[in-house]
Amino acid sequence: MATAALKSGLKRLLGRTGFDIVRSTNSRGGVDDFLPFEATVRAARSAGLSVGDYIDEVMNGTPGATQATIDELRALGVFAADPRTVLEIGPGSGRYLEKTLQECSPDRYEIYETAAPWAGYLVDTFEVIARPTAECSLAPTPDGSVDLVQAHKVFNTVTFLSASRYFLEMARVTRPGGRIVFDVMTETCLDPATMRAWAAQGGAGHDSYPAAMPRRACVDLFATLDCALEASFPARMGFASTEVLVFAKAA
Ligand SMILES: C[S@@+](CC[C@H](N)C(=O)[O-])C[C@H]1O[C@@H](n2cnc3c(N)ncnc32)[C@H](O)[C@@H]1O
Repeated sequence: MATAALKSGLKRLLGRTGFDIVRSTNSRGGVDDFLPFEATVRAARSAGLSVGDYIDEVMNGTPGATQATIDELRALGVFAADPRTVLEIGPGSGRYLEKTLQECSPDRYEIYETAAPWAGYLVDTFEVIARPTAECSLAPTPDGSVDLVQAHKVFNTVTFLSASRYFLEMARVTRPGGRIVFDVMTETCLDPATMRAWAAQGGAGHDSYPAAMPRRACVDLFATLDCALEASFPARMGFASTEVLVFAKAA
């Protein structure tokens, strides 16, 4: 009973921060609580919303948050580049995936998602290809084969090592001239007032969430992988934010 109350309190808390709670089959995924697949899909349907919009508007109380990121990416020309192959890590409910597919029509959209029910739902709904997840590797995807590699609200939920391993893999699979887009909770998202707010409202049994990542470390790492920072902008996450980084791999 106490556990159920704690879980439901945690779910409310994380919902307010813009975080989706999805069971991770990878115990190193950082947060392995549960956004119930069937109940969420049913609730979205009865609200007449897509699952993504239902999560933004109703569950997270941040209407338009996903669309705002997509709009920024469009303004940066990410979709005008007409990506033929897209790869997304941790799409979860698919709220970014759905909106990406409204902006471009790739021939192949690969996902690496540890939450099996959501991965199956995305395969059935959007005809994407689910790849096996293991050790934060993108091994099934060949070198230099993807036009747009993205991850949203993932690297603030996993450990430093998981994020770092995925970063190296993202650069490997991106084709020359391709783009890499992901958000991280950098120092630009952590002014003293926000840190105080996290200290007061975060945690609740999940010490690993949210995970911070230095901006400079990302930029310097990707520079060594021939990927230059093109742009960055904030993305809402409840009372706080993450920073979206957009890299271009040298052509
Ligand atoms: C906070 S959710 C974000 C979901 C989605 N991108 C969104 O913004 O709505 C984090 C997602 O990453 C997935 N995940 C966690 N660890 C992962 C890993 N090692 N590889 C791939 N996906 C992972 C979780 O299952 C979950 O779907």
